[in-house]
Amino acid sequence: MAAQQTRARPRVWVSRPLFDDMTDRLREYFDVQAETEDHAWTAAQVGEKLRDMHGAVLGVSDPVDARAIAQAPRLRVLANTAVGYDNLDLAALTAAGIVATNTPDVLNEAVADFAWALLLAAARRVGEGERYLRAGRWQGSSFHLLLGGEVHGRTLGILGMGRIGQAIARRAIGFRMPVIYHNRSRLEATVERECNARYASRDELLRNADYLVLVLPLTPANRHAIGTAELALMKPTATLVNIARGGIVDDAALAAALSEGRLAAAGLDVFENEPALYARLPTLDNVVLTPHIASASLDTRRAMAGVAVDNLIAALGFGAHAGRPPNVLNPEALQTSA
Ligand code: GLV
Repeated sequence: MAAQQTRARPRVWVSRPLFDDMTDRLREYFDVQAETEDHAWTAAQVGEKLRDMHGAVLGVSDPVDARAIAQAPRLRVLANTAVGYDNLDLAALTAAGIVATNTPDVLNEAVADFAWALLLAAARRVGEGERYLRAGRWQGSSFHLLLGGEVHGRTLGILGMGRIGQAIARRAIGFRMPVIYHNRSRLEATVERECNARYASRDELLRNADYLVLVLPLTPANRHAIGTAELALMKPTATLVNIARGGIVDDAALAAALSEGRLAAAGLDVFENEPALYARLPTLDNVVLTPHIASASLDTRRAMAGVAVDNLIAALGFGAHAGRPPNVLNPEALQTSA
């Protein structure tokens, strides 16, 4: 404590409104500049904000590029409030000895719940039904009104079988759905059994899934992992769900497939140029669109904020884990910044 009083307090930027009690925890250690409104920050704006900071808590879409890093000489840690970190130039951060952290695990179950919400809504035309009612078009029951796809018993495909993919697969047991998955590496047999999931090649997955859920990180290799060629392999009766990242799907190719009947439906929580939408998507009835909220249950968002705050406090050398932030993405930087 005595040391804390004699040295200047590190400066920390919080790029988006968190929860007040979490920001107050940061204030115990740091001079905090906390934004009170959400803002779609550009890389240049983030760079300006970071200039004099020692650390920052960032939102999932706040971009940090090599230029911002070069002009922030005091910066020691960026704590992302997300499991994904494609908004960060990790190589440049590591080269500069700046620690980056994320919030894995605490959001697995909430995101898996939401993947199912989108899957069911797209298959059973929940959005269309709601729009129909709100437009005052319902004139009474019709046997053929809004007929959708069957869910239970159909084949669930999962592309990317990390912890979120596994949580999605476990839920399929209740729907009595066979599960096939593709992943960079095959899961251990015990995990496959627990998830009731069978490993498949990428092509087999695309050809056989009635519901295909994407749970891949966005990396250069995964950009447009689902484009025209992949959509052409899928059944025209299939439904695609993306709760992972925009850019994994080629939105223009998807919109074309949906409007030409080459794919039955889609449920999308993420988009190529968020917050903008590919203009054709919202004109299509057979797509359910949500604004990147898969982890947005109150408890989960609080847990994510808490993990980000813990990471930041520890990376700047305070708290119970001083010097050992729990979720470091680039341990090499931790060594140089120590
Ligand atoms: C949300 O998209 C996350 O990566 O946590």
